[in-house]
Amino acid sequence: MTDHSPTLWKTQIRDVACGDRVTIVEPANVYECTLSDDCFVGPFVEIQKGVQIGARTKVQSHSFICELVQIGDDCFVGHGVMFINDVFSHGGPARGNRTLWKETRIGNRVAIGSNATILPVNICDDVVIGAGAVVTRDIEVSGIYAGNPARFVRHVNDTGSARN
Ligand SMILES: CC(C)(COP(=O)(O)OP(=O)(O)OC[C@H]1O[C@@H](n2cnc3c(N)ncnc32)[C@H](O)[C@@H]1OP(=O)(O)O)[C@@H](O)C(=O)NCCC(=O)NCCS
Repeated sequence: MTDHSPTLWKTQIRDVACGDRVTIVEPANVYECTLSDDCFVGPFVEIQKGVQIGARTKVQSHSFICELVQIGDDCFVGHGVMFINDVFSHGGPARGNRTLWKETRIGNRVAIGSNATILPVNICDDVVIGAGAVVTRDIEVSGIYAGNPARFVRHVNDTGSARN
């Protein structure tokens, strides 16, 4: 094999529409998106073009938020959470054919546990997603969901703690 130099692309934080007091920990690849007041973005996060994130939402390290994702206010995106917009609906990757990509909308006060995977879905307000969950269907009732595929575990009481 011939020893060629690779093409290098640098991570970048550019063209981000930021509210007040937004924090981004470098290195991160965050571009052409909107981060509202008091958002926090941890290191090794990628947030792609067109993503909108609401006020006071925290995105912890190593998470990936792809195009066509919208996240509400006061949410928590745990470490290593993966969003998906291409579900390989035609038997493989869309390979840049954006007409095949699908949207995800996350409501307000949604907490997503570490290492969860969120397929293109709508999630209502006041939901907790367990660590490692794979969310494959819309969530229309507030509560705690976990597992693969994510299933309803229990309701959340007014103080945000779990109850039977
Ligand atoms: C989902 C979660 C919120 C549930 O907490 P809880 O209401 O206290 O639930 P319990 O621990 O009582 O467990 C209830 C049931 O769900 C199961 N369960 C709990 N968490 C689960 C998870 N992440 N995935 C799959 N099943 C889970 C338990 O095994 C238990 O099942 P059983 O009734 O058959 O024994 C919590 O376990 C969780 O995953 N939190 C995410 C935390 C996180 O990622 N934080 C990131 C920052 S560090």
